[in-house]
Amino acid sequence: MEHDTTQWAFELEDISFAWDRDEVLSVERLQLSRGERLFLGGPSGSGKSSMLSLLSGVETPQRGQVDILGTRLNSLTSSMRDQFRADHIGYIFQMFNLVPYLSVVENVCLPLKFSKTRAARVDSATAEAERLLTQLGMGDHIQRSVFELSVGQQQRVAAARALIGSPELILADEPTSALDKESAQQFIELLFTECNKAKTSLVLVSHDQDLKQHFETCYLLGGQSA
Ligand SMILES: Nc1ncnc2c1ncn2[C@@H]1O[C@H](COP(=O)(O)OP(=O)(O)OP(=O)(O)O)[C@@H](O)[C@H]1O
Ligand SMILES: [Mg+2]
Repeated sequence: MEHDTTQWAFELEDISFAWDRDEVLSVERLQLSRGERLFLGGPSGSGKSSMLSLLSGVETPQRGQVDILGTRLNSLTSSMRDQFRADHIGYIFQMFNLVPYLSVVENVCLPLKFSKTRAARVDSATAEAERLLTQLGMGDHIQRSVFELSVGQQQRVAAARALIGSPELILADEPTSALDKESAQQFIELLFTECNKAKTSLVLVSHDQDLKQHFETCYLLGGQSA
């Protein structure tokens, strides 16, 4: 398959994107090699979350090409893009999007129900969910309801859910925003360890400029300079 041979996790070219009339994103060229990490920064409202919507194929640009793992997302139908995302992308949303009536462990196992590709990489869904949750310091909360959790704990459940089944690309939207500095540092290290294991590429959105130094590539929106 094409996405198994390309060196790029993603390539953006000549992108223009607007939610309505005003252009929110304009990107001449941006690419990330497989297995590498990109820090995506910029002020509030500069288009960071919008950029992740394009990289995940939730939205498509009005102009330009979005290629993920060698697949041109613009050429897929909306339902094909949904399946592509389920198979290849772990998305940690800014608002987590956890399912409130499911337990912690059920939330983490959810992506395996939507993707045979990811399910095939895991022997036991529950055991792998528990391993990831334990790595992320959530081992004592596995059977709890997600609505009982603190915001920082919900972020870690969202991270475990994104990582399960080793998708090739992780998109993380402010995953450390609710954590203190030390927990944020620990969380980032664990995220990197899990990504390195499977040569997963990572795009991480953050306001915390201190994190930038740990990334191969940095892209700042809204006129900030790297
Ligand atoms: N679903 C949407 N519909 C319409 N406009 C939107 C939508 N999401 C974002 N926007 C607009 O697009 C612009 C960029 O928003 P975006 O959420 O991408 O910024 P951001 O950099 O992620 O900000 P923050 O740091 O506050 O999360 C803003 O002007 C916002 O109002
Ligand atoms: Mg945002």
